[in-house]
Amino acid sequence: MSWNRIITGDCLDVLPKVPAKSVQCCVTSPPYYGLRDYGVEGQLGAEKVPDCLGWATGSPCGECFVCHMVQVFRQVWRVLRDDGVLFLNLGDTYCTKAGKGDNAPQTKWKKGATYPNGAPHRCAELEGFKPKDRIGIPHRVAFALQADGWYWRDEVVWDKVNPMPQSATDRCSGVHEIVFMFSKRERYFYDWKAIEETATQKGRVRSDPVGGNKYIEGVKHSNGSVFEGSDNRRKRSVWSIASHPLKEKHFAAFPPRLVEVCVRAGTSQKGCCRKCGAPVVRVLEKTRVATRPGLDSKVFGGPNSQFRVSKDPRHQEEWDGKEVGNRDPQRHVTGTKTIGWKAGCDCGEGTVPCIVLDMFSGAGTTCLVAKQLGRRYLGIELNPDYVAMSNRRINGAAPRLV
Ligand SMILES: C[S@@+](CC[C@H](N)C(=O)[O-])C[C@H]1O[C@@H](n2cnc3c(N)ncnc32)[C@H](O)[C@@H]1O
Ligand SMILES: [Zn+2]
Ligand SMILES: [Zn+2]
Repeated sequence: MSWNRIITGDCLDVLPKVPAKSVQCCVTSPPYYGLRDYGVEGQLGAEKVPDCLGWATGSPCGECFVCHMVQVFRQVWRVLRDDGVLFLNLGDTYCTKAGKGDNAPQTKWKKGATYPNGAPHRCAELEGFKPKDRIGIPHRVAFALQADGWYWRDEVVWDKVNPMPQSATDRCSGVHEIVFMFSKRERYFYDWKAIEETATQKGRVRSDPVGGNKYIEGVKHSNGSVFEGSDNRRKRSVWSIASHPLKEKHFAAFPPRLVEVCVRAGTSQKGCCRKCGAPVVRVLEKTRVATRPGLDSKVFGGPNSQFRVSKDPRHQEEWDGKEVGNRDPQRHVTGTKTIGWKAGCDCGEGTVPCIVLDMFSGAGTTCLVAKQLGRRYLGIELNPDYVAMSNRRINGAAPRLV
């Protein structure tokens, strides 16, 4: 297989030709149900039925949007390594007549064009949905993939920061989309350290819930010790990322920063084994930092005690001089530091960059970001105009990553 290219074609035809278990990470955004006409035959997202519920009933129709997604992601399962991860971005759709009201397609569905299963989407006429219903497409797909064997590991809210204005006056403006993470196994490669966030509250105060003592990061405590704290924290599940207007004409491109987080978490920056593809893993050192250095564990009661048994002063006197409890002088926070990297296998071969897949590659943002981060990539896209656009972007000037 030659990587670092975008193949023009239907992902259901192309994916079977990709070697099994060859890819470390998939970052993708399928066409949203009923939203846009990408102008090519074979496009997904134009199905008449959003969800036949076959994933729940055990009799999938094979033709609805959710069934199509299950078929595509079965192929992704095959090409993904067992320790690989899948990041899946999907938007929701409101039930409406095509071209009218909420989420009206930005590109008109063409009269007389061939769409999968017959007709442009008119879900106001669909059984089980009322006009104006939110369909819940992302979660229907997530349930279906879970039923198909995927481990549903994460749901991220992409807060779009600069969303398109919306006209609805009987609900909130939708300003978020979902990014799901799935894995094939309980354990998988996930470099949480690569996507750590900087804690916003520098110099934050830690108060002692029992004694009321305060420990301020970086400030010397009376016994001479300094609480260092940690400036970083684990990546949180709300990502505030502005969407990114493209010079080129593609309306649904990922913001590069969103892809960047997924690629950094889902692939190793040090690459993978040339022979077996196992990602090189971080070696971390944990440090325990005491937050109550030098404090006694015993706490005594009394009117002047820092420990208040109750608000009633008579009650406080009853406990005068008596031991009322313990606090843990061992309380600590754990910091982690990268002290090296090690091979994820015993092959002893050299390393090559990890591979990122996007089989709905559109304007090629996933491939572009993968390249900029020194990873290999494979894109698949049905519309040849978008493939040309992607190649222009990948070979041309690059957007800045943060
Ligand atoms: C939401 S867009 C993806 C945009 C992409 N994430 C980016 O950053 O540009 C979905 C893309 O899937 C393509 N597509 C639709 N059906 C497809 C199929 N069966 N196989 C491959 N690509 C398809 C559409 O042409 C469209 O470009
Ligand atoms: Zn179905
Ligand atoms: Zn190996």
